Amino acid sequence: MDIYNEEMLNDFIAENPLRFSEKHLTLVRRDFYEHKRGTVSDEFVDYVLWAEKSPARHEHFGDFLLPIIRDNSWSSILEVGCGETVLLSEYLHQKLGNSVKITAMDQCEMQCDNSGIKIMHHKFTGTENLTEYDAVIAQEPCDAAELIVKACTGQNIPYCVILCGVPHARSSGVLDDDVYAWYAYLLSTYANSQFTIWHNGRFSSGCIYSEHGFDRRYFQGT
Ligand SMILES: C[S@@+](CC[C@H](N)C(=O)[O-])C[C@H]1O[C@@H](n2cnc3c(N)ncnc32)[C@H](O)[C@@H]1O
Repeated sequence: MDIYNEEMLNDFIAENPLRFSEKHLTLVRRDFYEHKRGTVSDEFVDYVLWAEKSPARHEHFGDFLLPIIRDNSWSSILEVGCGETVLLSEYLHQKLGNSVKITAMDQCEMQCDNSGIKIMHHKFTGTENLTEYDAVIAQEPCDAAELIVKACTGQNIPYCVILCGVPHARSSGVLDDDVYAWYAYLLSTYANSQFTIWHNGRFSSGCIYSEHGFDRRYFQGT
């Protein structure tokens, strides 16, 4: 599959299946034309998965989460860093209906017409009371990742965070040189956390999760 095919790129832009804003489409174009760069944007990953007819990132994570939410009979989930398009929360709500209350939080402006999802325009700080949620989930929430792990560990709330493929600053402000050093820091700092490499199509990144709620067996084959 030649993903560097201009016709395919143009189809993706015309169809815009993930409702990207112009800013996000610009990132797809940038990574398409400058593909010798070592790291690519999430939006380009989304383009490649679409071109390869693989599940989108939110579908892949959502399909992983659905049996866990059902098996645990969870009824309230918080997604932190849902992004402009709120795709993961929307997907979960579409599959679960109103049996599970989904709250989608981000500091950015969000476009979501789905009245079944509670939208919270808020910058997560880690000081929030999370006890109303059965679990906290996040897909590549950048700087919020460590805040989520820390807050959920402190409040004993199950969490599962797919980490970014680039390092983000530690709570001390230190920025690791490479992503594996950041992952190692998170694991050693939050000793009760579990870690796996998350594979999605031809891409992979770290995934950190609580030892309770997100049983290891669910990660077999991910
Ligand atoms: C790389 S984007 C990922 C968006 C979406 N989850 C996805 O996978 O496409 C990271 C998102 O996390 C949000 N974010 C970062 N730090 C945050 C915080 N402290 N509180 C809430 N949202 C945050 C950003 O605004 C951004 O929308």
